[in-house]
Amino acid sequence: MRGTHSPAAMDFPILRTQPGERPLAYLDNAATTQKPEAVIRRLADYYSRENANIHRGGYPLSLRAEQLYEQARRRVQGWLGAASPREVVFTRSSTEGLNLLAHAGLEAWAGPGDNVVVTELEHASNYYPFQRQCAVRQVEFRVAAARRDGSLDPEAVEALLDGRTKLVSVTAMSNVTGFRPDLKAVIRAAHRVGARVAVDASQEIAHHRVDVGALDCDFLCFSGHKVYGPTGCGVLYGKEEALAQLPPWLYGGGMLERAGPGGTAWKDGPDRFEAGSPDVASVLGLSAALDYLDGKGVSALFAYEAELARYLRERLGAVPGVRLHGPDCPSPILTFSVEGWAAYDVGVLLGRAGVAVRCGAHCAYPLMERMGLDGSCRVSLGIYNSAADVDALAGELERMGRTGYVYSSP
Ligand code: ALA
Repeated sequence: MRGTHSPAAMDFPILRTQPGERPLAYLDNAATTQKPEAVIRRLADYYSRENANIHRGGYPLSLRAEQLYEQARRRVQGWLGAASPREVVFTRSSTEGLNLLAHAGLEAWAGPGDNVVVTELEHASNYYPFQRQCAVRQVEFRVAAARRDGSLDPEAVEALLDGRTKLVSVTAMSNVTGFRPDLKAVIRAAHRVGARVAVDASQEIAHHRVDVGALDCDFLCFSGHKVYGPTGCGVLYGKEEALAQLPPWLYGGGMLERAGPGGTAWKDGPDRFEAGSPDVASVLGLSAALDYLDGKGVSALFAYEAELARYLRERLGAVPGVRLHGPDCPSPILTFSVEGWAAYDVGVLLGRAGVAVRCGAHCAYPLMERMGLDGSCRVSLGIYNSAADVDALAGELERMGRTGYVYSSP
């Protein structure tokens, strides 16, 4: 692996800058990915030549922007393997998509005596919206326990299901350990009792191809900024018949079919869930990111990254004092602690050395508790990382081990 360079590295302008004293080893891709030139250019082009609000203007600039926006919807449909563009709702983020589902799904389907199931693996955004809406609607909130190593036995979910389960929401890939639950088993079990299943693909989307048809999930969400697109745009996929049963969540312009004293009716399809002025630029940026990945050969990029994940695990596992957490399996997301060091201090010192990782609880408090961790450091790879980035991280950790705890404030 040593000496190998990513085929994507040169496409990301920020990686060519040197913000600190040392070159940047950006290893916090689970938090957000950097953007390729093609995405940055798409945003600038849109604002330079094509910007107008959509669904509201009959003039050519607005009609063109609307056409581009709907083209992007079809682009995402193709990327996810969805049956129709009407199954693709643009949101601001995974968080917004999951809040939409918690509000509208529980309003449509759940009441006292029913239950909703999530797991201890979930990020806060796939846990608290459901916990809150369950409390508001007197719906039982059930949480499937993770194993101590952070993995999940699908039977732990299955054991919580019954004829009153209305919704199961589960991550496709833990943002803490990179563990990927057996989604197909969870989905089959949930469907057997008539429950809907939502998949949080926020991390999965950047490392593996997602096919909603093959998975047979009812909903799936992700954030554009975690798959090399801009912030401000996410996607909630929903089977058309499932989306059709949901009431709106945000109310405002663009989602009304008819309004007046005689009654109000909502539009069908994605428009019902996209009230207000959409972030057209970000949606086009996401579409450009998917074009970029396809153009580069996404399967080869993901295979390169998987190889780097093996090197990462091997390299960090050999650093004295470093303890790897999570299932014993290479993943582009890896969590670790350094003996004698608080996670935050490790993160700050690595940062000063030009190595960007995340530290803390990673917005996944139930999982951290199950794993017996107060906090940890997390390294997460992207398609542009190289063995040199991994070596920079490992080298700094080795140095910390040698010098011990010497903290001087900046
Ligand atoms: N959800 C993001 C992360 O795990 C922010 O870092």
